Amino acid sequence: MTKAPVKVTVTGAAGQIGYALLFRIASGQMLGLDTPVKLSLLEITPALRAAEGTAMELTDCAFPLLESIEITDDATRAFDGTSVALLVGARPRGPGMERGDLLSANGGIFKPQGAALNNGAAEDIRVLVVGNPANSNALIAQQNAPDIPANRFSAMMRLDHNRALAQAAQKLGVSVSDISNMTIWGNHSATQYPDLVHAQFGGRSIAEQVERDWLEGTFIPTVAKRGAAIIEARGASSAASAANAAIDHVHSWVHGTAEGDWTSAGVVSDGSYGIPEGLISGFPVTSTGGDWEIVSDLEIDDFSRARIDASVAELVEERDAIRELGLI
Ligand code: NAD
Ligand code: LMR
Repeated sequence: MTKAPVKVTVTGAAGQIGYALLFRIASGQMLGLDTPVKLSLLEITPALRAAEGTAMELTDCAFPLLESIEITDDATRAFDGTSVALLVGARPRGPGMERGDLLSANGGIFKPQGAALNNGAAEDIRVLVVGNPANSNALIAQQNAPDIPANRFSAMMRLDHNRALAQAAQKLGVSVSDISNMTIWGNHSATQYPDLVHAQFGGRSIAEQVERDWLEGTFIPTVAKRGAAIIEARGASSAASAANAAIDHVHSWVHGTAEGDWTSAGVVSDGSYGIPEGLISGFPVTSTGGDWEIVSDLEIDDFSRARIDASVAELVEERDAIRELGLI
């Protein structure tokens, strides 16, 4: 049976990720083949014409689930009554930059968007922040939306998660679907910690099945610096894989994670694993009934502890910087 239509807002709709994302949402790959969608595209004024072009193409796909398309440069209108907000619109980094360098350029986008979400979003709103630096931008939006439960905000770690699955599967010569319990801890940045200690293949820790040199010297840096490698090779930041990760993230959130497995998402810390309360950090999470839950009671060895602490220290620095900028 077909469900009631869901309003989905995508910011930065005329950008690269927007172009790779919107068609998949409209085809039902994000919310399911039983859920019609009403798309709302938020762009800055100079990009509205380009968003109109994308909307024409969406119409031309004749997607049965696509109920309507609205294009606007007004955040209040874009977020009014929305149930899923994908905050993509932000500047991407160029060669030689770290994602944190974007904080002053992009941070200002997320304060008014948080306020607009607070004022007009639907009761069941779920927000995914993709625009970089994603964790701190998510914190800005969340802090400016005091009436929305904090657990409705998340930052995208899923691209890192998928990168980690792919690298581990290649190393072991197995399928990505044979690997479970992968986690990306900390920040969506070069300090992130992709965790092979808890990741499993064949019921055993992957860390026990690969050489330590490969884990420390190849796996972690390859995953953590993959975004920069793509920028260097493509001359533009990842787009299709980022859109794919956003679809995966929302799909897991809404439809739940597989029994016995978990995924990675940037969620508001409840103090678990010594990560300061309130920070938006990558954690192992499950979803049931549409809410993320941090996986509890994993044993953290000394190596993992040091890696998690280093990435969390960077999140603390970013939080202090956005406080100084008056964004939270
Ligand atoms: P892009 O430059 O192609 O598109 C960004 C779009 O955002 C542009 O069309 C721009 O007009 C729009 N925009 C800017 N300010 C806006 C605002 N205030 N409201 C609405 N729209 C606005 O960039 P892209 O490649 O699509 O990347 C978008 C962001 O996603 C970048 O910050 C990039 O670094 C980030 N990203 C994150 C991940 C992740 O894993 N979290 C992965 C890839 C890219
Ligand atoms: C990525 O991980 O590919 C994105 O965050 C883009 C970037 O700046 O690395």
